[in-house]
Amino acid sequence: MAVAAAHIREALDAVAGLAGQPTIDACNIYTGRHDNSRSLSHQIQSIIGGPTAKAFSTNFASIYAQVGDQRVAPNNLYAADDAARQYAEQLSIDAGFAPLYIGPLDPGARLLEDGAGLTRALAAQLGPFFYRYAPTREF
Ligand SMILES: NC(=O)c1ccc[n+]([C@@H]2O[C@H](COP(=O)([O-])OP(=O)(O)OC[C@H]3O[C@@H](n4cnc5c(N)ncnc54)[C@H](OP(=O)(O)O)[C@@H]3O)[C@@H](O)[C@H]2O)c1
Repeated sequence: MAVAAAHIREALDAVAGLAGQPTIDACNIYTGRHDNSRSLSHQIQSIIGGPTAKAFSTNFASIYAQVGDQRVAPNNLYAADDAARQYAEQLSIDAGFAPLYIGPLDPGARLLEDGAGLTRALAAQLGPFFYRYAPTREF
């Protein structure tokens, strides 16, 4: 799911056959929230009803083509229901990223969404960027 946050409802209403499907949500929000859901991912899950992950929201689509050129696989932070983890992991790996689980959808999805300002601030300094977190022994 990757549309502007304000268009989530109408975009999903236009698609049939989604009920209960696993969902990966990449949406960010930069304006006030007009939905009472705990996160955009929860809003989407309330419509589709399947296991849900939030992934790719802290990565830049404009540099996807360069993922394979990096010295190590960049991370893709994600939060997910247990039943959605396999999908977020596999899609991340297929896209060349090293998926990094930050915890369950609640509160992980909201944490990722609330971190969008930091991602933007970094992008203002670096341009679109990759990132990688590592335990001390790996640096
Ligand atoms: N771009 C990034 O690097 C990036 C990174 C992380 C997260 N995100 C998040 O991903 C989401 C999409 O961003 P984007 O950059 O991909 O935006 P985008 O290039 O403007 O694409 C938006 C897509 O949503 C579709 N759409 C818009 N209104 C719709 C509706 N009412 N029903 C069905 N489809 C609709 C558009 O379809 P049409 O082309 O047919 O209009 C288009 O394919 C946003 O929430 C953004 O914050 C983006």
